[in-house]
Amino acid sequence: MFKKDFPYFKNSEIVYLDNAATTQKPKAVIESQTEYYEKYCANTHRSSFGHANKATQNFENARKTLREFINASLNEEIIFTKGVTESINFIAHSFAKDFKTVIISSLEHHSNIVPWHMQGRSLGNGLEVVKCNENLDFDFEHFETLLKENPNAFVSISHISNAFGKIHDIKAIIKLAHKYNAIVMIDGAQSLAHMKVDMQELNVDFFAISSHKTFGPTGVGAIYVKKEYLKLLNPYQTGGATIYEVDFNSSTLLNSPYKFEAGTQNIAGIIGFGEALKFISHIGYENIETIEKDVYNYLNEELKKLPNIIFYNDINNSIGSRSFNFKNIIHDDIGILVDKMQIALRVGHHCAQPIMKQLEIKGTIRVSIAFYNDYTDVDRLINALKKALSMLE
Ligand code: ALA
Repeated sequence: MFKKDFPYFKNSEIVYLDNAATTQKPKAVIESQTEYYEKYCANTHRSSFGHANKATQNFENARKTLREFINASLNEEIIFTKGVTESINFIAHSFAKDFKTVIISSLEHHSNIVPWHMQGRSLGNGLEVVKCNENLDFDFEHFETLLKENPNAFVSISHISNAFGKIHDIKAIIKLAHKYNAIVMIDGAQSLAHMKVDMQELNVDFFAISSHKTFGPTGVGAIYVKKEYLKLLNPYQTGGATIYEVDFNSSTLLNSPYKFEAGTQNIAGIIGFGEALKFISHIGYENIETIEKDVYNYLNEELKKLPNIIFYNDINNSIGSRSFNFKNIIHDDIGILVDKMQIALRVGHHCAQPIMKQLEIKGTIRVSIAFYNDYTDVDRLINALKKALSMLE
């Protein structure tokens, strides 16, 4: 029903089921970027001629749109980055670098694991991992033990697992962490495409956001920083656009958010991201959640009928992604065969090798949906999987 708003689907017969990797872009998003390049291309926050002012205004409007969208209290709390990976690296290498302990979950993406290793942390040596049960549910009891044993920790946890679609109850995680004086960053890469997030209601300290996984352009993201931490946060890169005054002896930095946004930003991308958020608001999360739930349930029911399918979690508290394997079949072979049948999905470890190792598998076949997917997409997927399985038997 919504595919008509996405030029990709006019130009392609492909069944697109790789939305956890990146989402398709609505026409309005693409047009807003073209308009910037064709009609008022200029740098922001520097020059004072008309097009430069217009570029700055539209750029700052996108910040305001994002602020309203996630219910942050101030525009200054929104710092643009090039994506969730940069957002996490930024906080890891500035605010969080001197914390004695960082606590993550078992389901983290590499981008919320590797930056901590780069600081010399390892298991039991500055890094702790919350266990999950056989259904991949977050173990709150273990989390509380870790919080008690490691006072004033930094907690960095994904909202939704990119590999399995598992939703972490971040409201409860944040509340419990705060009880033990921990500070919490949430990796929200997979959130905004599927559900509403509210910074004030969550009372979260840091929240990492992706544009390209939220129907916006690639190369754009943001980090929400609760206002009380803005003054304690040091930039991890500086340069043009971050300073108030410089001489050869010293530099005085601007206030947030500008002191954190060094160099020319992805102006077209950020304007496009603002359009993506407006597009989502227009459709409404209520609609998005209803459609997705229906398609996700149908997908699950149809997959369950396939012979020898192995799941790693049930669909309770899950959204977007469904991961599975077939007994004695290599997931890569399925990926190659269904690609020939115009099905786009991801096979492999999904940048989450530690949980794959824990499950003693090399990877999975992952189908990840967005609100524009429908029953026909699921039917075509199931037919392709049946054909692929018959070829591999
Ligand atoms: N993190 C992206 C995925 O899950 C790339 O596929």
